[in-house]
Amino acid sequence: MKKLTGLKKIKTAIFISGRGSNLKNLLKFSKTKYSPIIIDLVVSNKKAFGLKYADQYKVKKKIISFKRNKIAEKKILIILNKRNIKFICLAGFMRILSKNFIKKFKGKIVNIHPSYLPKYKGLNTSVRSLWNNEKYSGCSVHYVSEKLDSGKIILQKKVKITKNETEISLDRKILKEEHKLYPKAILKIFN
Ligand code: GAR
Repeated sequence: MKKLTGLKKIKTAIFISGRGSNLKNLLKFSKTKYSPIIIDLVVSNKKAFGLKYADQYKVKKKIISFKRNKIAEKKILIILNKRNIKFICLAGFMRILSKNFIKKFKGKIVNIHPSYLPKYKGLNTSVRSLWNNEKYSGCSVHYVSEKLDSGKIILQKKVKITKNETEISLDRKILKEEHKLYPKAILKIFN
């Protein structure tokens, strides 16, 4: 693995909407000498719990309401350009970015999704997997394209669904794998 100094690291923004466990995990990862990214900004569409991790790591945070998408994205683009941010990780960001926004950051936005894509795009992935008696679920890191949860897959990991699995237990197992997968996917992109 390549060791990178601060100067060479890619300035990154993380977008969140809630709990922020993936954000916390990426912040921790970004502090290691092997990380190709440096986290410069956390964006949230609301006062999310996860914003506390931005404070903990002394990273700038911005809350931008998405009541009006166009205006929100305009504001975000101004901040991203001002801060010279080159890469975006969506980490539980529950808003859909417009074609226009994605075009401006083409190939530079990635997302983590709690299913083994292309199965179970969208919301409530675990409940739907259980309902359909699936044998496995998983998680995927993919590039963000104009179609929801459909961009090129970077890495994914399967998670077995056991006999007495519940939505809670499955979500927990998937999240644990997400925390390993996201840093690995970032390393794969830049190394
Ligand atoms: C994660 O499971 C992530 O995969 C999912 O939201 C959760 C966020 O958890 N993302 C999506 O469903 C995106 N469509 P976190 O806030 O603790 O990182």
